[in-house]
Amino acid sequence: MNTVIPGQTQRVLSGMRATGRLHLGHYHGVLKNWIELQNQYECFFFVADWHALTTHYDDPAIIEASVWDMVVDWLAAGVDPQNATLFIQSRIMEHAELHLLLSMITPLGWLERVPSYKDQQARLHTKDLDTYGFLGYPLLQSADILIYRASLVPVGDDQVAHVELTREIARRFNHLYGRDPGYEDYAEQAIKKMGKKAGKLYRQLRTAFLEKGDQEALDKARAILGSQKNISLGDKERLYGYLEGGGKMILPEPQALLTTASKMPGLDGQKMSKSYDNTIGLRDDPAEIEQRLKTMPTDPARVRRNDPGNPDICPVWPLHEVYSDDDTRKWVREGCTTAGIGCLECKQPVIEAILAELEPIQTRAKEFTKDPMLVRTIINDGCKRATEVAEETMEDVREAMGLGYS
Ligand code: TRP
Ligand code: SF4
Repeated sequence: MNTVIPGQTQRVLSGMRATGRLHLGHYHGVLKNWIELQNQYECFFFVADWHALTTHYDDPAIIEASVWDMVVDWLAAGVDPQNATLFIQSRIMEHAELHLLLSMITPLGWLERVPSYKDQQARLHTKDLDTYGFLGYPLLQSADILIYRASLVPVGDDQVAHVELTREIARRFNHLYGRDPGYEDYAEQAIKKMGKKAGKLYRQLRTAFLEKGDQEALDKARAILGSQKNISLGDKERLYGYLEGGGKMILPEPQALLTTASKMPGLDGQKMSKSYDNTIGLRDDPAEIEQRLKTMPTDPARVRRNDPGNPDICPVWPLHEVYSDDDTRKWVREGCTTAGIGCLECKQPVIEAILAELEPIQTRAKEFTKDPMLVRTIINDGCKRATEVAEETMEDVREAMGLGYS
């Protein structure tokens, strides 16, 4: 089911596990993308501290320390609290409630089949990950997404399966609970509220879709619904669902938004990652960064200055691909293969580009670290806003699951 509904603002949601300080890999792979998205969509970004606990339950100190560092890193990188809602997962208790409620309808096999489950268990074999919490990791993620009725979830390709699971859970939920008794009568009553002309058109388009599978008719009918001002949100939801033959769409299905950013290379040519110990931290000391770049490995065949080298097997080259323009890259390829330039000389433009990129980030990070109250206020405001949205969804969910006593 396509849930991108014309006329409705699309909401973006993403989270990051709190497991340490951020590095250039996070900046290029995630944060730059968030910063672009925050100007285009309504964005919710949060620190996934409960998710961090699923693998680091034996080391809670690292989580506590990472949460605030992470928020400072986001702000320093340019994530803007005026434009995006920033919050901490564990402060919004409703995520836990939805996780629990969704667990009632989630077949165990769906969770066991998520590829990251067995992969991670194998990769982190020093840890006992035969836990209930770890099995539920992707379901908690589904709750994170569905509770904000997000339509777009920017993630790396390792997370696509989790968004896919989320879609399946939403579908199952809507199928089980979206159909209230007498929903057809309700839907017919709601159509009447749209007014004669719009109501008639809605009916025609619905028939065209249901009988002939006319996708254009479906899109048109959704657009008409989107622009209706006279009917309540509940009626609107009901009519979106009715269009496709079903009942209410209580939890819309999200879509993964794959980041196109190329992988940031680390100091050894592999992908930059804490587990490879090849990172440049956003707040590392510039002099130290310069030193590490100067001593990072190059083409091992270039033992002496006048040995020619091959950029294609040199870990410095991928950094030029991220940071250098065409002219500089040409200069590198020529200079390297003819021994016209030395490796230190070759690294210089990369060193300069990285330090220049980090300079404003580090300046802003200092300002935020000097003012921890400001950071807390930003998060408090974000948590308040997130709670409002989450609570609205939970009211529908509780009611749908027979828990709406009041
Ligand atoms: N599992 C994600 C990761 O490891 C983090 C995450 C938790 C997340 N909840 C989310 C990402 C919801 C997107 C949406 O990167
Ligand atoms: Fe690598 Fe540059 Fe040295 Fe060539 S000149 S080996 S590309 S660092």
